[in-house]
Amino acid sequence: MTDTFLPGIKLVLGLTGGVAAYKAAELARLLMHAGVDIQAVMTRSASKFVGTATLQALTGKPVLTELWDEAIPNGMAHIDLSRNADAILVAPASADFIAKLAHGLADDLLSALCLARDCPLLVAPAMNRQMWENAATQRNIDTLRCDGVTILGPGSGAQACGETGMGRMLEAHELAASVRVFFGPRLLQGKRVLVTAGPTYEAIDAVRGITNLSSGKMGYAVARAAVEAGADVILVSGPVCLTPPSALKLVSVTSAEEMLAAVKDQISDVDIFVSVAAVADYRAKTTSGQKTKKTGNNITLELTPNPDILEYAASLPQPPFCVGFAAETENLEENAEAKRRKKKLPLLAANFAQDTIGSEECELTLLDDSGKHLLPKAPKLVQARRLVQHIALLHEKNNLTGPC
Ligand code: C5P
Repeated sequence: MTDTFLPGIKLVLGLTGGVAAYKAAELARLLMHAGVDIQAVMTRSASKFVGTATLQALTGKPVLTELWDEAIPNGMAHIDLSRNADAILVAPASADFIAKLAHGLADDLLSALCLARDCPLLVAPAMNRQMWENAATQRNIDTLRCDGVTILGPGSGAQACGETGMGRMLEAHELAASVRVFFGPRLLQGKRVLVTAGPTYEAIDAVRGITNLSSGKMGYAVARAAVEAGADVILVSGPVCLTPPSALKLVSVTSAEEMLAAVKDQISDVDIFVSVAAVADYRAKTTSGQKTKKTGNNITLELTPNPDILEYAASLPQPPFCVGFAAETENLEENAEAKRRKKKLPLLAANFAQDTIGSEECELTLLDDSGKHLLPKAPKLVQARRLVQHIALLHEKNNLTGPC
């Protein structure tokens, strides 16, 4: 990062207690160099790891630490700071601080100003791998995501405690790049994007059915990344336990036929269709509204194929830019490329089913007319943002040159 690329952006940089606080000093240096105006705010524990004098020297401003700091003339630091900021970035964000954010606690300056903010909040978690994996932390992170907070990282690797795993704060240059992306041009501004997500459920009788393993996490991440990129997003979702971002239209469906009907309803004025849903390939030929009684005998279930929703969309006379997903268990690239060609898709994202289903992270291989592009393992939202960047690029190229 050598050029000034974020001139005039005002950022509150919050530091909480963690060894990664030393990286925040480098982050402050990189962001200052990029033209960002930084106001550093530190919790008491943060100042055990890095001195206020360091951050003061790097940002050129006194570091604020207390709710009743005398540097703020009207004693309203928790209100004033966010009113004058374009965003708050908390890096490092400890497990404890994340829990406070998730529950709306406000017992110190940094948590109070996060609660009182009217600007976006970005959070870079940093903690021991077991603290990160703990169900309570994961619930808190999910809550923050649902509240529209942008979670940056964490990464995986050697930790200060001697263990290895997820929980390392992203490196300063990665965080600076994320800030640049956050404030960068909105790649899908003015575009309408339709996303399908989750599994479908095909009833056999009143209580039994056929479905696919799918948490919906990737589809919801794609929808969120498209919202972040400025698109108008419609999310058609099968049954999942996820809360969608508020800034989109959600259509909830159960079966493949319902999903197709919802897609048909929406597709006419859509620019981009991203089909992430794990649609059940078959449904029962006949269904019962009652619970079928158990007998001791074998029974035969006749299945009939479901419509292929993506194939339908891609073969419309004037199709939107169609993106498929393929979860494979073997021969990833050959199988996925065969699907891409069969369904006539400009872009398909392939991954190994065993690595991605239900997981928070995945590795993606993007296949398009120019070949393959590997997106190394990362949290699904990070992958979704990368995918959205790739889609925006190809879609723009298609508009200029016409579909290939
Ligand atoms: O199931 P399959 O591996 O063929 O899925 C590839 C792509 O096709 C995915 O994007 C999926 O959402 C889509 N699909 C669909 N309707 C189906 C089956 C798959 O839209 N019935």
